[in-house]
Amino acid sequence: MSLADWKTVTEVAANVVTVLAIPGGLWAWWRWLAERHDRSTEVLFKLEERFESADNRKARKLLENGALYRTIRVRLIEAVLFAGVAREAVPASTSAARRAPASEGENILRDLELVDCFLRFYVFLCGIRAAKQVPDNSLRICYRYWLAHYYHPGRIELHVYINEYFPTLRRWLKEDREKHSKKPEQSFFNPKQFGWKSEPGPQKPLREAARGRVLVLTGSGISAESGIPTFRGQGGYWRDKNPQKLATRKAFHENAPLVWEWYEERRKRIREAHPNAAHHALLRLATEAKDFLVVTQNVDDLHERAGTADKLVHIHGKIFDERCMKCNQHRVAPLKPDTSHTCPECDGLLRPSVVWFDEDLDTAEERRVESFLEQGPCDLVLVIGTTGTFSYVADWAVRGAGSTGWLIEINPEETPFTPFANGVVRRKAAEFLPRLLKYRMGIEMGKVTAPASAQARN
Ligand code: OAD
Repeated sequence: MSLADWKTVTEVAANVVTVLAIPGGLWAWWRWLAERHDRSTEVLFKLEERFESADNRKARKLLENGALYRTIRVRLIEAVLFAGVAREAVPASTSAARRAPASEGENILRDLELVDCFLRFYVFLCGIRAAKQVPDNSLRICYRYWLAHYYHPGRIELHVYINEYFPTLRRWLKEDREKHSKKPEQSFFNPKQFGWKSEPGPQKPLREAARGRVLVLTGSGISAESGIPTFRGQGGYWRDKNPQKLATRKAFHENAPLVWEWYEERRKRIREAHPNAAHHALLRLATEAKDFLVVTQNVDDLHERAGTADKLVHIHGKIFDERCMKCNQHRVAPLKPDTSHTCPECDGLLRPSVVWFDEDLDTAEERRVESFLEQGPCDLVLVIGTTGTFSYVADWAVRGAGSTGWLIEINPEETPFTPFANGVVRRKAAEFLPRLLKYRMGIEMGKVTAPASAQARN
């Protein structure tokens, strides 16, 4: 073979090698990538095995099993309510946990820790996915449990907990939804894959919801425009007084006269006050709603005097009721303040029938709220003028609205409770509630006359 031929042969061979090298190189690169994916998927499944510990299985059970889930839902709410919010000495703030024996209370806390660890695992997986270290289908297999629960329509408090403590997940979910909102089939977190409805949210227009099952939760803010101070807002009681010195059983035992002096001063202020437009608006709403209940944390009688006494629960008691510490005789305080505060029956010491910080809720009153909730989901929950300090209040609101009801907060200030709301009105209650009824619910205030029985106390 001549040199020229050789040259041609080697040129042809070099060309063949070049032509083959590109796809060959690509193939080798692709094999390396696939193996790398396989290796990292393996790492991922090893990780999940590690996380597949008994604890994680228990956390998954807690999320899968509705009944079990209820034990931690209040803790999830509590964790969000108290996240970074300085709280005065608040007692075991959930009546359920309050009544549970210490061990059960601990278990509930431990359950929350398990769920937290379980979610932390998925934040970790987010990182792996964001780094494109593993193919999506492998991640989907790993996410199968968590996704199903993140999107469970009833898991409002889990959503809020994740928003509060797992911004990575929240951001990633938001990006994922935005990126693929137009092409759901491409969305990684497409709830339909897990058989869940899409995002929860009010199923009825507000006008219709206001005529359905309505639950109202009020705090001291609803009485503020009647001239009664709140507790924690500007000028509130707990701004210049120590709750432990005035609103505990212990304080009463140590210095009953001081505690009575404070309650008499509050009684006087309430007698001089009158229900405001927000109280009256609730009476109008009560007449339109199919089912209606106001649960107030307030001990004043402004709701009664506005006419909603028959659909009202005083979860923290009533300031004008009192009972004997000796014979437990109950009575309504006389109009003319009786500063002796001794029982007319046995001379024992009378105390105001209110719930103090170191006391349990009145189970009969609590039972009334629970039975209202057990009759079915509420179409509308209004949370008016409360910082949501006590998680049983937030629990009732979140549980009441469920995944299909309106949950509207009326409060000039943001509260830890706000993330649970799907409607927020940053206005004063008396100024705005009548307008909310009129323009969004088609309920005219008209002439509101409270029933005779509710006539003013003074
Ligand atoms: P707070 O004083 O904690 O909260 C009052 C809320 O009402 C604040 O969020 C204010 O922003 C808001 N607010 C003020 N003016 C308002 C207005 N005009 N319209 C609407 N909102 C307004 O009082 P509560 O949340 O009620 O318990 O406190 C809950 C419980 O803590 C009380 O029942 C009492 C207290 O310690 C016990 O004593 C057991």
